[in-house]
Amino acid sequence: MKRIEKALNYIKKFGLYPESPVVSSPHAPETIVNGKKVLLFATNNYLGLMHDERVVAAAVEGVKKWGIGNGSARLLTGNIEIHQQLEKKIAEFKHREAGISFVSGYMANSGAIPAIANVFKPSIKSLLGGKIEREKDTIIFSDEYNHASIIAGIRLSGAQKEIYKHTDVGDLKNKLSKYPVKARKMIVTDGVFSMDGDTAPLPDILDLAKKYNALVYLDDAHATGILGKNGRGLEDYFGLENKVDVVMGTFTKSFGGVGGFIVGRKILIDYLKIASDSFIFTAPIAPPVVYGLIKAIEIAEKEPWRRKKLLENAEYLRGKLKELNFNTGASNTQIMPIIIGDEKKAMQASNLLLERNIFIPAARWPAVPQKQARLRTTLTCDHTFEQIDYLVDTLVEIRKKIKF
Ligand SMILES: Cc1ncc(COP(=O)(O)O)c(C=O)c1O
Repeated sequence: MKRIEKALNYIKKFGLYPESPVVSSPHAPETIVNGKKVLLFATNNYLGLMHDERVVAAAVEGVKKWGIGNGSARLLTGNIEIHQQLEKKIAEFKHREAGISFVSGYMANSGAIPAIANVFKPSIKSLLGGKIEREKDTIIFSDEYNHASIIAGIRLSGAQKEIYKHTDVGDLKNKLSKYPVKARKMIVTDGVFSMDGDTAPLPDILDLAKKYNALVYLDDAHATGILGKNGRGLEDYFGLENKVDVVMGTFTKSFGGVGGFIVGRKILIDYLKIASDSFIFTAPIAPPVVYGLIKAIEIAEKEPWRRKKLLENAEYLRGKLKELNFNTGASNTQIMPIIIGDEKKAMQASNLLLERNIFIPAARWPAVPQKQARLRTTLTCDHTFEQIDYLVDTLVEIRKKIKF
């Protein structure tokens, strides 16, 4: 404990201990944070479905019928019928053969990546001999800005890894070409990067994957329900349906609930059900949330205005910020960093915004590289242009004070 105390004190001394704000009302453009009504530009409730009354009504029905838990992990007696309905629903939404759900997106990545990298050896000795053996020869190629849950999955897999420069297909190509074509490879990338709001160069990645014989694993957390002609995600955005081998996503963002999923071919999903520790050794998503999610997916499909308005809001804000020379990096989605650089200034900017009733937390190292601290801004379909204008005017005012 002494060691822990020392480390904690050190972190606090340098102001690196994050004080999480206390939120006292559901996420909406106007939300109560730390006891104060603020304009919230920092939620993943992109489509406003988190507390949509139809979603809430479905969740209430779920809690009345099933209570709040599952009683067990899926492989024992927790495989209640509604999980299968949710998995069917998300597979249909993503136009895939099958789906599997996890208690969170983090669990999906940390369970599926090791399972896919280290496949069971199909031999009597391995599978019936009392000791499961796995093929351990996969090389994983991962974008340097991939989400922490991908990094956890890669670490847990123990696989050899190559980290390529952010969205740099040249670097990815160089790294792939170091290995024999026959070697088993997997390229893993976020679809929309969570701190930068830019998109992965999926068409180029798929070309390279074909050339160098690699599987492609796409974390579509921030694109699902939003990008593409039908809001199906990054493949849809590029007009590349069903080209990616493994598509992961979360129920935590567009669909307003909690949970993670993988969709793909039925053989992949059947395999993950017996090979992902984070599916096998934990209880699944709670029933009321499952009910709410099924309704939320249905609404996202039926009400395309939500994603259209969200992207319109994002374009409106980006246009204004660019005109005024704020640095929004390579963002082309609803996630928009306002890059300040200096960690202290980013904290100051966030505090000054709060004084003017706007809440956007500062994202700092280690969430982003050092000296790239930023206000990580996100939009929802429920924000109005007036609210966005107020944000822009306030940012201009603050920039005069702290010069960034
Ligand atoms: C790209 C990405 N992948 C995975 C996750 C994990 O999702 P969840 O919050 O459902 O665990 C996140 C969450 O922030 C994310 O941004």
